[in-house]
Amino acid sequence: MKLIRTVAAMQALAEDRRRVGRRLTLVPTMGALHDGHLALIDAAREHGDHCTVSIFVNPTQFAPGEDFDQYPRMLEGDLHRLEQLGGVDVVFTPRVEEMYPGGKAHQRIWVNVEDLDVHLCGRHRPGHFRGVVTIVTTLFHSCRPHVAVFGLKDAQQFVILRRLVRDLHFGIEIVGVPTVREPDGLALSSRNANLSPGERAQAVVLSQAVSAARMQVEQGEQRAQAIVETMRETMARAPDARLQYAEVVSVET
Ligand code: PAJ
Repeated sequence: MKLIRTVAAMQALAEDRRRVGRRLTLVPTMGALHDGHLALIDAAREHGDHCTVSIFVNPTQFAPGEDFDQYPRMLEGDLHRLEQLGGVDVVFTPRVEEMYPGGKAHQRIWVNVEDLDVHLCGRHRPGHFRGVVTIVTTLFHSCRPHVAVFGLKDAQQFVILRRLVRDLHFGIEIVGVPTVREPDGLALSSRNANLSPGERAQAVVLSQAVSAARMQVEQGEQRAQAIVETMRETMARAPDARLQYAEVVSVET
């Protein structure tokens, strides 16, 4: 497993592997790796024969007041986990100055998202998806993958990145992996580490709300508002939960 910290070295290695006919896969992450991330790596290995995992906590996707400084960083542990797992050829861990050479305040070129970011998380996290799409573009140009793998847990991110490669003709195959969950249903997430035991116990209402909505749809409910109401009611069972949004949307638009 090779550790690479610069874009130039990453591009040179990717070019070299492409020349000898390898099929390159990329799994972009912000580290603090858990079994959800490892499921992405498994999928990557099914879709290619040279796997790069990137670990980069991207400052520009944290909206003002979000937890960039508190985001869990554990590179040593992550590298150990990947070594143990096996099958990862390269870990790309650039510094912030490497990805934003003039400093992020001086970045003058961004990849913007139209419409797809006005709903769901996008509405509550100004600039978030512009930051995601811009860094993923930079990661694609650095790692030159044939295939990139993302989690369906971040559904809006997945839909937007699928449009990125389609609208801008990246020529990269995008693979989506189903959400990996704890036994009680809570989706694995690096930020779960921030929950107290009491909060952790209540957090299960999130997956219960989505399951209840899914069941209602499967039973034929077609009124979006009724489905939203089910999710609201389920969430209300957790005394400390404050619902940011519950929406029913088209997966294309
Ligand atoms: P991060 O939150 O580290 O997630 C990296 C990838 O793992 C994303 O594609 C995410 O959807 C996937 N993932 C996270 N938890 C998962 C779970 N429980 N089951 C399945 N997949 C899961 O998402 C990001 O980083 C960043 O926005 C990034 C794309 C790396 C750009 O900075």
